[in-house]
Amino acid sequence: AVLVVDFGAQYAQLIARRVREARVYSEIVPSTMPVAEMLAKNPKAIILSGGPSSVYAEGAPTVDRALFEAGVPVFGMCYGFQLMATTLGGTVDNTGSREYGRTVLHVSKTGSTLFEGTPAEQQVWMSHGDACSAAPEGFTVTGSTDVVPVAAFENDEKKLYGVQHHPEVLHSTHGQQVLEHFLYRGAGIEPTWTTGNVIEEQVAAIREQVGGSRAICGLSGGVDSAVAAALVQKAIGSQLTCVYVDHGLMRKGETEQVEKDFVAATGVQLKVVDAQERFLAALAGVSDPEQKRKIIGREFIRVFEQAQAEIIAEAGPGEPVEFLVQGTLYPDVVESGGGSGTANIKSHHNVGGLPEDLEFSLVEPLRQLFKDEVRMVGQELGLPEEIVQRQPFPGPGLGIRIVGDITRERLDLLREADAIAREELTAAGLDRDIWQCPVVLLADVRSVGVQGDGRTYGHPIVLRPVSSEDAMTADWTRMPYDVLAKISTRITNEVSDVNRVVLDVTSKPPGTIEWE
Ligand code: XMP
Repeated sequence: AVLVVDFGAQYAQLIARRVREARVYSEIVPSTMPVAEMLAKNPKAIILSGGPSSVYAEGAPTVDRALFEAGVPVFGMCYGFQLMATTLGGTVDNTGSREYGRTVLHVSKTGSTLFEGTPAEQQVWMSHGDACSAAPEGFTVTGSTDVVPVAAFENDEKKLYGVQHHPEVLHSTHGQQVLEHFLYRGAGIEPTWTTGNVIEEQVAAIREQVGGSRAICGLSGGVDSAVAAALVQKAIGSQLTCVYVDHGLMRKGETEQVEKDFVAATGVQLKVVDAQERFLAALAGVSDPEQKRKIIGREFIRVFEQAQAEIIAEAGPGEPVEFLVQGTLYPDVVESGGGSGTANIKSHHNVGGLPEDLEFSLVEPLRQLFKDEVRMVGQELGLPEEIVQRQPFPGPGLGIRIVGDITRERLDLLREADAIAREELTAAGLDRDIWQCPVVLLADVRSVGVQGDGRTYGHPIVLRPVSSEDAMTADWTRMPYDVLAKISTRITNEVSDVNRVVLDVTSKPPGTIEWE
């Protein structure tokens, strides 16, 4: 693998994805990992990410010089570049002036591994305070900007490379090419990583892990659990039983879709458990988002344990059901603090919210993958388009889209509003433009309205259409006004107790996509 050393910003994930887009497998490691441990992973190359610190800030993350002396090719970006410069004896000045945003990079292509075949002047994305003024000995300066004399350097002999800018962001117009030059030419890596490999590897790993035992998989109707189930089904066939928990927090028609489409596509054994009462009871009176998430996560596992008992009872004695398949993705792992030292932003119900007395061993075949990669795997496995291209829907479902405590009435109301929004978005052909559009009920808020000739005092519904590449960052979607108008009119007309529809115009960050 190529290791991406995470210096604490959100860039590391993006870099890891770009490396994989170059068909090279990558993994993120925290910058606190000792160099010996990184090297023990036998990395084909190491990339040092950007980060929020100045190399001169107190407690700023550093890197052991040994990293550059192990003969492993290294590419430093932004903070990683400056760290490389200072560690190897170059000069980084604490200039106090910041360079932020689109910048023109002047590159010298003679003798450059990184910039060959790219324009002499190219747009790059910068975000830094300190600036490198002298490259370490043995390095050739191959890039500069009007502000920074040394904005890129290379040492082909030692296979060490660095750029001040962020090649991983799309605003750096030749960023992907520069990254690929590092990987293919600098580090001599062959682009062989494909979703086909992932399937083969995972099928083998699942067989090895599960052996003759049996597994159950929770299906949510979403892409992740569907692909995870299909992968496991491919590996162990009838040793797998899928369980669909109808927790009552699903959207309209969702249960039917799982029962019909997914089973038709995979032929998997499916058990549907009606746990609506149980979830409602466990959630009664709870309005704190983290508490809701923890309760839903816990109840999920409890229901699986019950399903396990039933499956065993139905099948009679034989191989035990020891494994639980989950569609955990790489961003879930990283965001829950499991992938690096990054902060715990939300406990995703399938990672951080797991109870400690878990009775299953987990099978998580998508743990290393990003969403778009999961879709490719799903496609390759022959799942239908409607499932593979489905927009994301959170595991805790509508439970985290009701601001306030959860009741059956509120769920029914939100389900109606959500169904209208989805119907109109699909009718307007916007499904592919919009990453997802949470519909949120502000159950604790009321506002005055007028309808017919009477005063109303109802709840607002929030529309949260977002555009995103990976849900790590997102922007609110500039949707046509007439579609918004239609949704608003229909919701206020058709959903009782809702007299106002509002649009969320917050990007992520600072807002998360979901409200809770
Ligand atoms: P946030 O709200 O963190 O959401 O910006 C990012 C993406 O993750 C989805 N999401 C979840 N998915 N279990 C899931 O499977 C969860 O607990 C969960 N919480 C949020 C959200 O819909 C968005 O796509």
